[in-house]
Amino acid sequence: MSIDERPISTPLPFVRGWLRDPVGVGLPFPSSSATARRLARAAVDAAIPGTGPVLELGAGTGAVTEALIECRRAVEGIVAVERDVELCRALERRFPGLQVLHGDALDIGTVLSKAGLASVCVVVSGLPMRAIPSDAAGRCYSEAFEAMPPGGAIIQYTYGLRPPVDPEVTGPTFEATFIGREWRNFPPMGIWRYRLAG
Ligand SMILES: C[S@@+](CC[C@H](N)C(=O)[O-])C[C@H]1O[C@@H](n2cnc3c(N)ncnc32)[C@H](O)[C@@H]1O
Repeated sequence: MSIDERPISTPLPFVRGWLRDPVGVGLPFPSSSATARRLARAAVDAAIPGTGPVLELGAGTGAVTEALIECRRAVEGIVAVERDVELCRALERRFPGLQVLHGDALDIGTVLSKAGLASVCVVVSGLPMRAIPSDAAGRCYSEAFEAMPPGGAIIQYTYGLRPPVDPEVTGPTFEATFIGREWRNFPPMGIWRYRLAG
């Protein structure tokens, strides 16, 4: 199915998801296409070729998924993890062939091993890390790095000013690099790249 044939995305599934879980979904609307494209480019730039699919955590209704496909990532080369079952169904309808894993991305090691997925080439996360206790966020990142070869990266977005998973709080396990702020988003969105320290 080409991008033109894909079902048009409507805001309703996202708004309904937000009404069900305002803290977990964060905002009542998805990332802007400008933000999604920047995230997708950052993910594709950081991906380690030939080491598995792109892993998207907290895919929502697929704004970033769509941008990854625009960056010439085949839909079969993306795995989306989403906790809200209705958003999972919306993703499956919008992107036939996409592997959608319904589960808690904070427990990503278990989610991946249940799906039989041993390796991914990069992680892009829309999880609302500021609303997540730092020990759970740090554990999630550690498990995500275990699924990547050395040199793997996590691309994370947030509307705060500080790193969304703050190495000053979690300890010096991760290095956070600020990539930039996308102003064509409400609210403006900061984009960060994480790698394992040292
Ligand atoms: C800020 S929205 C981002 C949605 C989409 N990626 C975008 O950019 O428009 C956060 C998404 O993460 C999902 N989410 C929150 N906590 C989660 C968790 N622990 N496991 C999996 N998904 C989660 C929410 O249901 C929501 O779809």
